[in-house]
Amino acid sequence: MRFDLITIFPQMLQTAVNESILKRAQVSGKIKIFVHDLRDYTKDKHKKVDDKPFGGGPGMLMSAQPIVDAVAKIKGRRKAKVILTCPTGKRLDQCLVKTFAKEKNLIIISGHYEGIDERVRKLVVDESVSIGDYILTGGEFASLVMVDAIARLVPGVLGKHESLHCESFEENLLEYPQYTRPADFRGLKVPDVLLSGNHADIEKWRKQQAHKITKDKRPDLF
Ligand code: ADE
Repeated sequence: MRFDLITIFPQMLQTAVNESILKRAQVSGKIKIFVHDLRDYTKDKHKKVDDKPFGGGPGMLMSAQPIVDAVAKIKGRRKAKVILTCPTGKRLDQCLVKTFAKEKNLIIISGHYEGIDERVRKLVVDESVSIGDYILTGGEFASLVMVDAIARLVPGVLGKHESLHCESFEENLLEYPQYTRPADFRGLKVPDVLLSGNHADIEKWRKQQAHKITKDKRPDLF
């Protein structure tokens, strides 16, 4: 099984996957792990990979271009499932881990900042995954949790003595979709309301979106 990890902190991931069982599994050829620096894919001359959110709000968003280009380049002609680590994604459990372990190629993007341009999800992400209802400083640890949990299910990764046991947020709302520049990316346009400058309308739209997403994805939070 092959893992491609996209991150703004490659050293953090490289160090962790070159230890212990994950290291041994790579040496024995049971798994392959490639770590990619997102900044290598940005077209920005200052190597920027983030920008301010349209419609205002705190923090920065990860821009669409570097991630979309990185995924395209890394994927090439291979079929691969693309996962984004993010606190509003599907909650990781052993059942989901087992599903991912059936894949041959996984591309895992470590999410960052206040979020990610929504069009990344639309264009390249197959599944957004959260490792639990808490907020990390970034998605790197979540990516590592996933790699670790999935890799150990790959036949031959665990040794004879390491058995595979029978394993078993304010207002309670998920976050609304966000967008940063450009306003039109590959034909996908930022909703007009976010460009209107009308903060009351923006707020209303965001609340509606948050309710809709929460109702769709996590009805248990209501
Ligand atoms: N990024 C920040 N918090 C996260 C979480 N709980 N799961 C996945 N990615 C995250």
